[in-house]
Amino acid sequence: MAEEVKVKTCGVRETKKLGAILAPFLSPGDLLILRGPLGAGKTTFTQGLGEGLEAERPIISPTFTLAREVKVKFKGGREGLLIHVDAWRLKAQGGDIFEEFEALGIEDDFEGNSALVVAEWGDGVAEALSDRILYVDFARDPEKESERLISFTPKGFRALGDFKKKAEEVFGNSVD
Ligand SMILES: Nc1ncnc2c1ncn2[C@@H]1O[C@H](COP(=O)(O)OP(=O)(O)OP(=O)(O)O)[C@@H](O)[C@H]1O
Ligand SMILES: [Mg+2]
Repeated sequence: MAEEVKVKTCGVRETKKLGAILAPFLSPGDLLILRGPLGAGKTTFTQGLGEGLEAERPIISPTFTLAREVKVKFKGGREGLLIHVDAWRLKAQGGDIFEEFEALGIEDDFEGNSALVVAEWGDGVAEALSDRILYVDFARDPEKESERLISFTPKGFRALGDFKKKAEEVFGNSVD
């Protein structure tokens, strides 16, 4: 079975840090699907990812639009795009993500394969975008306000060994 990585973060800074740590392991064409309830930390994590990818502007929640693009630099300095999707409405109301991308005029950027897609609420609606999917699950314990358990599960994705090592270096041994 593909290896899973689990990290417990305490506070916004650590969740951002975790996103920044993952950044160098990502490439254009990858799809991250972020799962977890309202306020779980999906956008916070994406902000850290943006910082790690030297995004040209800070990531803000795309709540009122399906997706926002930002220019980023992938490992090795390769320029590309991060398409940050909030699929909440699409998931609730149905619809086709490709058509939505077309309507927003980002279909071409996506087709050019220069983009990493990060989709909040994307499970069940964004999978068609890529064969290389990394699910990121955010769980919270109602009694621990600032803790989040964040799990990474690859599907058709590269092995997570190096990322796991890096996360353990920074956060200590990953949670089982
Ligand atoms: N360890 C933590 N990691 C991330 N956020 C935390 C943590 N502890 C507390 N928080 C708080 O949880 C909230 C996370 O909000 P965020 O917008 O990232 O969630 P979200 O999953 O994107 O929600 P939504 O589904 O509404 O888009 C913030 O208010 C943040 O201050
Ligand atoms: Mg959000």
